[in-house]
Amino acid sequence: MKTILAALVLINVIVLASSQLEVGYYQDKCRLAEIIVKAEVFEALSKDPGLAAGFVRLHFHDCFVRGCDGSVLLDSTPNKPAEKDSPINNPSLRGFEVIDRAKAKIESICKGVVSCADIVAFAARDGVEFSGGIGYDVPAGRKDGLISNLTDTFTNLPPPTDTLQQLVTSFTSKGLTEEDLITLYGAHTIGRSHCTSFNNRLYSFSTKASQDPSLDPSYATKLKKQCPNPKVILNDTFLVVPMDPITPNTFDVNYYIGILNNKGLFASDETLLSSPATGNLIRKNIAYPKQWESKFAASMVKMGQIQVLTGDAGEIRTNCRKINS
Ligand code: HEM
Ligand SMILES: *[C@@H]1O[C@H](CO)[C@@H](O)[C@H](O)[C@H]1NC(C)=O
Ligand SMILES: *[C@@H]1O[C@H](CO)[C@@H](O)[C@H](O)[C@H]1NC(C)=O
Repeated sequence: MKTILAALVLINVIVLASSQLEVGYYQDKCRLAEIIVKAEVFEALSKDPGLAAGFVRLHFHDCFVRGCDGSVLLDSTPNKPAEKDSPINNPSLRGFEVIDRAKAKIESICKGVVSCADIVAFAARDGVEFSGGIGYDVPAGRKDGLISNLTDTFTNLPPPTDTLQQLVTSFTSKGLTEEDLITLYGAHTIGRSHCTSFNNRLYSFSTKASQDPSLDPSYATKLKKQCPNPKVILNDTFLVVPMDPITPNTFDVNYYIGILNNKGLFASDETLLSSPATGNLIRKNIAYPKQWESKFAASMVKMGQIQVLTGDAGEIRTNCRKINS
């Protein structure tokens, strides 16, 4: 009963929140806001297309921890380690400087009007669009939160070792469905992973080959060249591999195809095939890529509404890295 009640409250919060955000929110408050973000994002991506993935993940990690409130952007302060310094986010999360530049430009024309949380949501959309996915309308009007606590990342961001059941539980606790999980997981078609996020599958297994038997052996061999055994090299902190080695910067269904072929980097990839329903969703997305892109846009909009602060809650930060004093 308690859990049903909690679920109802959560659903209520999400429905309320979704009616509080609006598409074109800044049209009469700061007309150029979305255009400035897109210009800044595209400018950065023209030099480093890989950053597109950074913005998408930034939005995901923002929304899953304390809701989409820009808490992921806050810097640590003495005695208060922030989300961005969690090992889940540091050194892998990227794109902060671009968000800062967009924010500074926007502040210079409309002071204290556009939230950092909205800028992240716009940048994620622009990153998808730049990579060849569809551009979609982003409901806006989020306020920025006042708290960022490193510990929250461990309890709210699912690790790549999670089982399907754990991933689904994580998503439903945020008001997202199993289908949203599968749909959004396709974002791994762009970007990179640090070796440290999956090298336990290459070296820590007790089998003769010392690698995860569920990983395609020739792919494992290739990955071992890119990611040497951490016990024999000095420091693998910054080694990365593309998540979709075929088209690393293109928003397509190749990551799903990799999963079907046992070429997903993470244990959490394989686990998505462990139920017929989720396996079928993956096959359907591969068969109908355009439909997947639309579903992706819809799920991003849904994710973008998790526990948002609106109205008098929170603030519009002047500097995305610190709360207003
Ligand atoms: C559901 C569970 C998920 C798990 C376990 C997971 C896990 C991971 C891991 C381990 C990485 C590599 C980080 C690194 O070592 O550099 C990564 C990267 C990434 N993830 Fe996920 N992820 C999940 C869901 C999502 C969702 C929902 C999205 C977006 C909607 C997303 C978007 C990305 C992107 C774009 C990257 C590449 C980042 C970059 O290149 O900077 N992920 N993910
Ligand atoms: C962060 O959250 C943890 C766990 O809820 C709590 O123990 C800790 O005091 C918080 N840190 C700060 C600085 O508030
Ligand atoms: C790895 O090297 C970088 C500098 O290249 C350093 O910042 C980091 O602390 C090192 N990590 C370890 C575990 O030694």
